[in-house]
Amino acid sequence: MKSTQLFQRSILATAAVLAFAAHAGEVEVLHYWTSGGEAKSAAALKATLQAKGHVWKDFAVAGGGGDNAMTVLKSRVVSGNAPAAAQIKGPALQEWAGEGVLANIDDVAKAEKWDSLLPPVVANVMKYKGNYIAAPVNVHRVNWLWASNAAFKKAGAKVPTNWDEFFVAAEALKKAGIIPVAHGGQNWQDFTTFESVALGVGGADFYKQALVQLDQGALTGATMTKVLDTFKKVKSYTDKNAPGRDWNLATAMVIKGEAGMQLMGDWAKGEFVAAGKKPGADFTCAAAPGTAKSFTFNVDSFAMFKLKNEANSQAQKDLATAIMSTDFQEVFNLNKGSIPVRLNMNLAKFDDCAKLSANDFVATAKNGGLVPSVAHGMAIGSATSGAIQDAVSQFWNDDKMSSKDAQAKIASAAKVK
Ligand code: BGC
Repeated sequence: MKSTQLFQRSILATAAVLAFAAHAGEVEVLHYWTSGGEAKSAAALKATLQAKGHVWKDFAVAGGGGDNAMTVLKSRVVSGNAPAAAQIKGPALQEWAGEGVLANIDDVAKAEKWDSLLPPVVANVMKYKGNYIAAPVNVHRVNWLWASNAAFKKAGAKVPTNWDEFFVAAEALKKAGIIPVAHGGQNWQDFTTFESVALGVGGADFYKQALVQLDQGALTGATMTKVLDTFKKVKSYTDKNAPGRDWNLATAMVIKGEAGMQLMGDWAKGEFVAAGKKPGADFTCAAAPGTAKSFTFNVDSFAMFKLKNEANSQAQKDLATAIMSTDFQEVFNLNKGSIPVRLNMNLAKFDDCAKLSANDFVATAKNGGLVPSVAHGMAIGSATSGAIQDAVSQFWNDDKMSSKDAQAKIASAAKVK
């Protein structure tokens, strides 16, 4: 090659690098994915952004369910220093958008045809006044029961399909010297169990009336008393070290066979998978007792905050585009335990738990069994939801409180605005 040609080539290469660098932006991402399966999923998001030539600035705030992360986010936004993207979901997206701090990413959504790629129930939540302000990553199902096959075999127990069978299995596990129910110690964990009990005992219509519409009649009626009695009975099968325990440590007890079951959303599957366990062979996923025909949904999404820097804004948009791509939706959800939120994805690489979830998501959207998770911020505003969750946890933790007293507390918490 002649020296002039070489020179021209190196000029072109340098120009390409400079052009790339000029467009490289930094995206600070607030998330709370710090457990085994969660961290792998966050790493997939980071790799996706980096592959576009941008810089990932990690802003991880540990604490399942995201309560800690939301507290930190508020103080950052109040001091005028919002991250580019933050893991916010459900009605909280509307609350943040109402503050005027979120960016309009409609140009990305239009170019990528998000309206036709997302179920309307999800797309509506991602929009504020008709414009997209957040990008969804997945659909988690919350009403799951996770069972250790080894523990159930040792106890000679059968994975329950209703609450009567649940307590039969719990007794058998207890007799075999196994902790029947792995549980942890935050309000959202108590409420994750509570909403599955409400759905299983009361059915989807009761769930919607009591926990979504906050109907006082439903909250103070006989079905609610039965739900609270059943919920409290579950507590008697947990161990005394549950207070303060993180959800993933409770999952680890089931993974090791020290505990028989856990009522938890399918981010728990991310933990089993990260520990090398296989559904069917090592553990069983089943709808929470009595909830096979319902689906409590929990959609993780990233809200995009308004940014001043042009390159960072572009990087933020590239992140939004990447989040909805088929490649990302596959690798992320394989690790996370959830299913892709993007419609018509090929699920060949997904396991039977994910396939069941995908089928049930579609079926329940048609039969009225698809309900938003209250514990995971999908159903009601944060103030009301916080008050109700406090009341439920108070009942869970206070062995002297009656179901009737708890019921009155929950009904009055439902009026908090
Ligand atoms: C989030 C999940 C997360 C889980 C535990 C849920 O509210 O939607 O993404 O894995 O909390 O932290």
